[in-house]
Amino acid sequence: MQRGLFITFEGADGCGKTTQIKLLDEYLRSCGKSTLLTREPGAKGLGVKLREILLNYDGEVSPNCESFLFLADRAQHVDCIIKPAINEGKIVLCDRHTDSTVAYQGYGRGIDINRIKILNEIAVNGLTPDLTLIFDIDIETSLSRVGQEKDRMESAGVDFFNRVRNGYLEIAKQEPDRVKIINASDTIENIHNKVLELIKKL
Ligand code: TYD
Repeated sequence: MQRGLFITFEGADGCGKTTQIKLLDEYLRSCGKSTLLTREPGAKGLGVKLREILLNYDGEVSPNCESFLFLADRAQHVDCIIKPAINEGKIVLCDRHTDSTVAYQGYGRGIDINRIKILNEIAVNGLTPDLTLIFDIDIETSLSRVGQEKDRMESAGVDFFNRVRNGYLEIAKQEPDRVKIINASDTIENIHNKVLELIKKL
């Protein structure tokens, strides 16, 4: 069977990527493609429990511990969900993956970037996205979309999210073949068309 594809969607909270991933999923299915729409953290099973801790635990969580919890979720997700689906020939659309840990725990929380990259490599065990789309938007706009009720990560503040945004832009600069930036302040329809343009090149 032909190997499927692995496409990841990245960006700061409130950037609109979840709307776009769903639109792309509907489009691909309407073309008769077999897809798997999934997310990190917390796609299924154990991951859902880790997500609950990561987003809602209200005691102290050290940045190092936070990184390992996201990485643990990723290792389980890759082994039990993503790789089997790719091997079945599916197009896997993943809402956040390795670049989130580089941007949030590396650039955002200040953990050494190279260390995060090494830990990511261990967690994914040889898997790399065929394409990564980063939805870029100014942080004031994206955080205003998140609303009043913020989870643990969303409560990190504007300075944190500006570092996350800059981190994403840096990742795109370093890996221009894999990573493409999309201007997420455009209309939903224009952004969707831009996504399709990039997907069709694959
Ligand atoms: P989620 O509700 O899925 O947010 P979004 O809809 O913006 O993707 O929450 C995931 C949160 O976890 C989000 O704030 C980003 C953060 N995160 C990290 O900090 N590191 C990671 O490695 C991952 C996968 C997510």
